[in-house]
Amino acid sequence: MNQNIQDLLGRRQPGHALERSFYSDPQIFQDDLENIYYKDWLFVTPVCELPEVGSYVTYKVGDYQIVVVRGADNEIRAFHNTCRHRGSIICKAAKGNAAKLVCPYHSWTYNLDGSLAWARDMGPDFKPEDHGLKSVHCRNLEGLIYICLADDAPDFDAFSDVVRPYLAPHDLENAKVAVESRIIENGNWKLVWENNRECYHCAANHPSLIRSFPEDPRVSYLGNGNIPDYIAEHFEACEAAGLPAYYKVPEDGHYRLSRMPLVEGTKSFTMDGEFAVPTKRLGNIQKEDSGVFNKFHYPSTWAYFLPDHCMTFRVTPISPTETELVTSWLVHKDAVEGKDYDVDHLTEVWVATNEEDRRVVEDNQIGVNSPAYVPGPYSPEHEVSVRGFVDWYAETMEKRLHVQSIAAE
Ligand code: FES
Ligand SMILES: [Fe+2]
Repeated sequence: MNQNIQDLLGRRQPGHALERSFYSDPQIFQDDLENIYYKDWLFVTPVCELPEVGSYVTYKVGDYQIVVVRGADNEIRAFHNTCRHRGSIICKAAKGNAAKLVCPYHSWTYNLDGSLAWARDMGPDFKPEDHGLKSVHCRNLEGLIYICLADDAPDFDAFSDVVRPYLAPHDLENAKVAVESRIIENGNWKLVWENNRECYHCAANHPSLIRSFPEDPRVSYLGNGNIPDYIAEHFEACEAAGLPAYYKVPEDGHYRLSRMPLVEGTKSFTMDGEFAVPTKRLGNIQKEDSGVFNKFHYPSTWAYFLPDHCMTFRVTPISPTETELVTSWLVHKDAVEGKDYDVDHLTEVWVATNEEDRRVVEDNQIGVNSPAYVPGPYSPEHEVSVRGFVDWYAETMEKRLHVQSIAAE
């Protein structure tokens, strides 16, 4: 049991950034993996990356290797990507298609449902049925594939029941990934999240984004009930058009949803504010000024759903000071590049924004690494959602570490 992190959590100053060790210490990084990433539901991929029987996507989180695959019965399942013979990784590509999953070492061959189909010369007592791939909890939430590594997964239904009506109009089952980007930010995963949860830094850092994304901090946080008239009117107009819009956050704060207005006169996250895919929009949204459905779900994903296209982001810790960010731009599956959309028009704002965020996160990490760093206060106006994230992190860790220490007694 790591007393150190419990002491550090115990002396945390609410409303302030965390102490240096939370952003750099290898033991706390391991504690984060074991208590957060190995326990919670994690977004892996949009379902459109698994279009056919045998389509698979691999995912590495911490020490775990996972493969998500569409079976012959069209069910999507997740397995530990670790052979039941002597443990070799089985699927090595990031994504692909296979009739069966064949281990590269001694060719044990698995069906798409994880059962062992073939293993050579294993003797008369060998039972193939005892050597199927170990399964991982897997759910398809309106076109977003989630997994959970815990033996007993936390409840997913309460979350999915709330999110489903917000997502349904975006029709992700009929999407395709137009562009995917993978970047490594040299910063702790919590710094990546803290940066995402405020727009205090937007004016100085995001010239492209603020053309369409409002800097009003109330677009990021409405938890105090102070809803300005223009946002209340937007919610009502969206709801009247059949688009769930109201701000939703559960008591433990582990997700936030809302359909927010964009800067007046803009319709999408593009440089000119126009739709990136005007002729073949993804989803069934007639109300062109419905803005963006924002979905933030700790610890692994935020996503933006617009009336013409959508973006998913996946946050995976790599080391105490490295985080992978995978961004997918989703368009209608029948939209044709060069005809219905232009890749630069579609991606320019968030390619630039991701790069700008990478830079500020890396600068933050460099400064936090200094022994002179002292956690400073969050702005009560602009950084309430950052505080919400850090409170969720600290409270979740305290709860789970407490459960662990009771179990160890
Ligand atoms: S380790 Fe996979 S077949 Fe031997
Ligand atoms: Fe940013």
